[in-house]
Amino acid sequence: MSWTDKGVMITGAGSGIGRDTAVHLAALGARVVVSDLSEETGAGTVELIRAAGGTADFVACDVADEGSVEELLARTVELLGTLDHAVNNAGIADHPGELHELSAESWDRVVAVDLRGTFLCLRGELRAMLGAGHGTIVNIASNAGVKNAPGMAAYTSAKHGVVGLTKNAALQYARRGIRVNAVCPGTIATPGIASFPQELQDTWADMIPMGRMGTTADVAKATAYLLSEDSGFLTGVSLLVDGGLMYD
Ligand SMILES: NC(=O)c1ccc[n+]([C@@H]2O[C@H](COP(=O)([O-])OP(=O)(O)OC[C@H]3O[C@@H](n4cnc5c(N)ncnc54)[C@H](O)[C@@H]3O)[C@@H](O)[C@H]2O)c1
Repeated sequence: MSWTDKGVMITGAGSGIGRDTAVHLAALGARVVVSDLSEETGAGTVELIRAAGGTADFVACDVADEGSVEELLARTVELLGTLDHAVNNAGIADHPGELHELSAESWDRVVAVDLRGTFLCLRGELRAMLGAGHGTIVNIASNAGVKNAPGMAAYTSAKHGVVGLTKNAALQYARRGIRVNAVCPGTIATPGIASFPQELQDTWADMIPMGRMGTTADVAKATAYLLSEDSGFLTGVSLLVDGGLMYD
């Protein structure tokens, strides 16, 4: 399909998967709104895109904050004209530990960013897309959205919620021109993962049937596919991008 002039908004696009997805979609020809909590890293993504000849603007947003998300969507529509595609990627994880020691504050923060944040963005995107009668949305969940992530009760719960929300939204809007799918990455070699000792990284890679961690490009390409017309008959899907880990 042609991405030329298509308008895309991506949350959490200042780092890792979000940044590389924004860069990938811009390289395909899309006009991108890069959003992140961090103005500094978000601006860094915009610079990368512009340096490569692409089109991007930054809009700051805390996805857990309703007013902030409403401002993001209003500014996005102003910048793009129409919102054709959206990627709800912003997310945080729990510090691993036992459930009986998990504080309510930690639980609330993870659920607020990962689940409430996805809901608030998705709702705003649907409102923007319903008028135009078309649009595609990808929620970045996790393999923790379909199986347990050991020691991460809030993250596992929030990401299962994202998978459920994806199915619910997909079916509600299936006859109104809007498709909603999820991508469930496994272990992806992001800057966060690279900060762990090499030995530990090798152990994690060895646990994956394909013998390597995923790359941010692996996730970006799967996301682009679900956003594009190439996946035109797919909605409500949770696509695992995990090198076979789920079925091991
Ligand atoms: N890296 C992995 O192995 C992996 C695996 C499965 C799922 N995921 C999911 O992929 C997504 C991206 O992960 P990543 O590894 O690239 O993370 P990352 O930490 O590199 O990037 C996340 C970005 O989200 C932003 N962010 C955090 N809280 C925010 C908020 N309240 N509002 C707006 N932006 C906020 C951060 O500033 C950061 O730029 C997350 O939803 C994560 O749960 C990642």
